[in-house]
Amino acid sequence: MITIGVTGGIAAYKVIDVASALKKLGYEIQVVMTKNSTEFAAPLAFATITGKPVITDMTDGDGEVLHIEIAKKSKIILIAPATANIIAKLRAGIADDFLTTMVLATKGTVVLAPAMNSNMYTNPVVQENISVLKSRGYLVIEPDSGVLACGDVGVGKLPDAVKITAYIKDLNDKPAVDQDLLGKKYLITAGRTVEAIDPMRYLSNYSTGKMGYALAEMAKDRGAEVILVSGPTNLTPPAGVTVVEVISARDMYKAVHENYTDVDVVIKAAAVADFRPKEVQAEKIKKGDDKLVLELVKNPDILKSLGDTKKNQILVGFAAESQNVIENATEKLKSKNLDIIVANNIKEEGAGFSADTNIATIIERDGTVSFIPKMSKKELANIILDKTKRGR
Ligand code: CTP
Repeated sequence: MITIGVTGGIAAYKVIDVASALKKLGYEIQVVMTKNSTEFAAPLAFATITGKPVITDMTDGDGEVLHIEIAKKSKIILIAPATANIIAKLRAGIADDFLTTMVLATKGTVVLAPAMNSNMYTNPVVQENISVLKSRGYLVIEPDSGVLACGDVGVGKLPDAVKITAYIKDLNDKPAVDQDLLGKKYLITAGRTVEAIDPMRYLSNYSTGKMGYALAEMAKDRGAEVILVSGPTNLTPPAGVTVVEVISARDMYKAVHENYTDVDVVIKAAAVADFRPKEVQAEKIKKGDDKLVLELVKNPDILKSLGDTKKNQILVGFAAESQNVIENATEKLKSKNLDIIVANNIKEEGAGFSADTNIATIIERDGTVSFIPKMSKKELANIILDKTKRGR
């Protein structure tokens, strides 16, 4: 069963569409509303759509211990909209109404869809509460940006019903996975970087981001809190992952360092451009002469800078090699102070950037070498994640 907890925000009325879409997909839906939310959306609307009475009160249920019963039956509890108030209460473990009591008692997956004024949403106390809940395994559907009900423009809008419904459907359809990375924070980079030449041209590489996105998805599924720093890709980020979009190597450097201190594991799957044009031309470069010489300067080696300032983090690098794979990768592991390096021979069939498969050699700091045969990037991601567990 999927339980939808509605709390008191103006976006409550939009959740009627979510309940309706999920019901049409064939799910059993139970709606629980806080007192305040009934001012924004009529319980009767939800009851009519779901075919079940809406629970608004601790005393509902004719003397049964209904909050425990619903908590046990719920595979997923979606709280939408999730106000700053419910987020704070859940973080603190307050149980003063049906919804909060039920959430405390559930073993199901709790998904929050925060929606509020952008100043409230970006307030450090709200962000800290969300971050703590994420580290306890709560999933969060990030709010959209746009014009808010109060007239302000910014982040805090409840995503549309189609997006929320798709998220819940994906989550429900996924097989249960052992939460062995719960409480751990992973920083994963993915994709390529793009280095501008002029307003319409750039230098880049063929990386699609598939390996990094597979790592992010698997880590999230196994319970980790994941920050995905991604260069431009055509991929949809996995649900429940915090995405930081970057363009250039220097953007990636900044985003990675901003998040480095409080993560447990960093996996640098991104294909970072080693060089960038010395100057970005403000105007389009004209054809002019028969020859054009571009002067390039070196980009910062992000992974090396992480290795140089490493404390307790586990650092995982990738090595794209076309020859002497083990020697070159081992050299990179040492020079960048890594714990693990995943080497690919980019010339082997089934190991390329755009493939859904990979063939890897994993080398660990203690010298262990594992040859991983051709397999899907998701399967390889799980093997890499296994190796990031300390004391395994
Ligand atoms: N990397 C990085 N910053 C760079 C270049 C690479 O963080 N400026 C990281 C990549 O994300 C990868 C690892 O370093 O995890 C190795 O990348 P690779 O391109 O194989 O090696 P390089 O260090 O660039 O060395 P070379 O190109 O000489 O093989």
